[in-house]
Amino acid sequence: MDIFRIEGPVRLSGQVTVNGSKNAALPIMAAAILAEGQSSLAGVPRLSDVRLFADLLQTLGCRVESAPGGPGPMRIDASVISNPVGDYEIVRKMRASICILGPLLARCGRAEVSMPGGCAIGDRPINLHVRGLRELGAEICLKNGYVIAEAPRGLRGASIFLGGSFGSTVLGTANVMMAATLAKGRTVIESAACEPEISDLANCLNAMGARISGIGSPRLVIEGVSHLHPVQYEVIPDRIEAGTFMVAAAITRGELKLVNCQLDDMMAVVDKLRNVGVTVEPTADGCVVAGTDHLHPTDVTTQPYPGFPTDLQAQLMALLALAEGNSVVIEKIFPDRFMHVAELNRMAADLRKEGPAVIVAGVKNLVAAPVMASDLRASAALVLAGLAAEGTTIINRVYHIDRGYERIEERLNPLGAQIFREDAPAP
Ligand code: EPZ
Repeated sequence: MDIFRIEGPVRLSGQVTVNGSKNAALPIMAAAILAEGQSSLAGVPRLSDVRLFADLLQTLGCRVESAPGGPGPMRIDASVISNPVGDYEIVRKMRASICILGPLLARCGRAEVSMPGGCAIGDRPINLHVRGLRELGAEICLKNGYVIAEAPRGLRGASIFLGGSFGSTVLGTANVMMAATLAKGRTVIESAACEPEISDLANCLNAMGARISGIGSPRLVIEGVSHLHPVQYEVIPDRIEAGTFMVAAAITRGELKLVNCQLDDMMAVVDKLRNVGVTVEPTADGCVVAGTDHLHPTDVTTQPYPGFPTDLQAQLMALLALAEGNSVVIEKIFPDRFMHVAELNRMAADLRKEGPAVIVAGVKNLVAAPVMASDLRASAALVLAGLAAEGTTIINRVYHIDRGYERIEERLNPLGAQIFREDAPAP
């Protein structure tokens, strides 16, 4: 059980390369199930979630190879799917496992996937996934904590409204879209998620021989085909990792050059950073982000893409904690996603929770303290706060951050950070 010891405050400067996207890579790894043969995926980040997903695919019968430690592509051979079962032991550790449900059902006519359990960021049902697959003709029931889906005579195209109480669903869209690629006839998904990761998945599926149009819009049209073929594909850069590095430059009043960063996928994020006084200058392969000594307060509401991403809410809150005035942060996607609030207050931030909103009263300085990571993005916010805080910050349960950031200390320390990974002291 690692901890981070972070010495602050520091001022970051230099160049950092953004990795491939975790949230694009996971559903694209699932898409490999749809085709007999070996697919080769480039740009897949080396994260614990990716390793876990590879283990999951291997339990289904796939062979997964990736050059350990090397930048090489990940090869997924899905010639044989001998066991279409998503085991509880893996699914309970990573909710994204649910996105094997659609591809397994389409490929094998049957799938059993454990229901994902509870989550630190709030209630995360899968009713929309189930509704969409039922519309495609699947019979679905819940048995002993497993979703059992069957379509012995195959799936058939349908018009599906996939919007929920919080808007579109990202992995729900992924599941239904992947299943529809092999359904008989045409499927229309209305209120589909428009996240760049979904567009990347759709582009990958089209490269496998699928016929998907309306990519990037809330209305996806999928003409079913009889089969798909393996693919060589490169996943898009990780806009959430890029956004986290942008905030790292801003919160340390530093200057970073981000390489392999697609600003077009980050308009809402760049807009917010510019509002608070941060400079974001586009370059040929990314951008240069420069902090300011006087951060302005601003209000932000998380929304489905192209709105401000919920996965950067905690990081932005850490930044606004140092603004000269009051900001309001409203979480519209996961209303309970505020595990970082109490921890940032331990670092002398002045945050007050009011229902799905947090009032952020800016303070002059953050002060180091021992804090507890609770989920992936909350722990990223604590690392950022630790870079700006005076003194030695200790972050416990670092495994949360390894799920979505590849060895973050090895990426930030060359830029001037002082992050030390250490064994947790014996209890
Ligand atoms: C994806 O989760 C991402 N995960 C999340 O990133 C991200 O926070 C989320 O999308 C929103 O952008 C991956 O891509 C692996 P949703 P997903 O279904 O697809 C409700 C990270 O930090 N809903 O779009 O599971 C749901 O409760 C992770 O990298 C239903 O009501 O999220 C939520 O309020 C955390 N019924 C809202 O929709 C459903 O069937 C959006 O959830 C499905 C969802």
